[in-house]
Amino acid sequence: MSEKHTIAVIGAGGKMGTRVSDNLAQTDHDVRYVETSPAGQERVTAAGRALSDAASAVADADIVVLAVPDLALAAVTADLVPQMKSGSVCLTLDPAAAYAGLLAERDDVIQAVAHPCHPSIFLQRETPEQWADTFGGIAAPQDAIAAVESDDPATKTLVEDTVRAIYAPVIDVHWVTIKQLAQLEPTLVETVACMIGELLNEALQEAIHTMGVPEAAARSIMYGHTQVALANGLRGDNPFSDACLIAMKYGRETIVKDDWKKIFRDDELDKNLANMLHLEKIER
Ligand SMILES: NC(=O)c1ccc[n+]([C@@H]2O[C@H](COP(=O)([O-])OP(=O)(O)OC[C@H]3O[C@@H](n4cnc5c(N)ncnc54)[C@H](O)[C@@H]3O)[C@@H](O)[C@H]2O)c1
Repeated sequence: MSEKHTIAVIGAGGKMGTRVSDNLAQTDHDVRYVETSPAGQERVTAAGRALSDAASAVADADIVVLAVPDLALAAVTADLVPQMKSGSVCLTLDPAAAYAGLLAERDDVIQAVAHPCHPSIFLQRETPEQWADTFGGIAAPQDAIAAVESDDPATKTLVEDTVRAIYAPVIDVHWVTIKQLAQLEPTLVETVACMIGELLNEALQEAIHTMGVPEAAARSIMYGHTQVALANGLRGDNPFSDACLIAMKYGRETIVKDDWKKIFRDDELDKNLANMLHLEKIER
């Protein structure tokens, strides 16, 4: 059981704010819920939680969880960071704004970022609730990635306790730098993995609607082969057959650009993040 902390959730009625609050409400931590929009406020109170005003919530908090949209983080931190307690932690849930240097800083307030990994496709799920929890934070165990700009063990413990609580159940918390977290998310998992997920669906729709294959047949073979593709491709469970390797080579040459690995360069990361944050360019 971790030490009891005072935690403020800003944006408590949003998508992540609700998830985070649902989990924090099940802990012994002292939690303050802050939300500005009427619809969000209604969601907080409908969940049986009392709203706090931002000023008193952040003044007391050991850690402030900013579950507001990335585009609002510059303005929200400019307002709230000056009101935070000395030695407290400002935790964002995505690295983009922190990496782009958009967050208001203070020498005695520590910046941290934590992102859920989401439950692994290779997780040994045991219950219907675990099977249903593809996002994580409800029943299926997941890892989380965290970055904190401090070597102080007590600060790291505070961040880890909070991350384990908000994304529960958590198996491991992996520590990286804020830049490495930005290289993982968006580049590795949104630019590559999520894009391929969407591409798989587009290909499926082509098979059904353009080629006229019965939908049940197309979905069935796609879902099974997607598991084989990921198990063989990511874990080497079985070798791909010789004929499959020829078809894969045709796919790579036809679909993938030769220079695609440029997405891992710093200048491309900056371009990607500038687009996501609606900025002309990243200035750090
Ligand atoms: N949605 C996801 O799947 C997901 C996953 C991981 C991380 N994140 C990150 O979580 C953060 C929140 O994203 P989201 O998708 O939950 O956003 P959202 O738009 O669903 O919710 C944001 C909430 O913040 C509230 N808000 C805005 N300004 C506020 C202020 N000044 N004070 C109090 N409340 C305020 C809004 O009213 C809204 O309820 C972002 O940093 C995002 O990148 C989101």
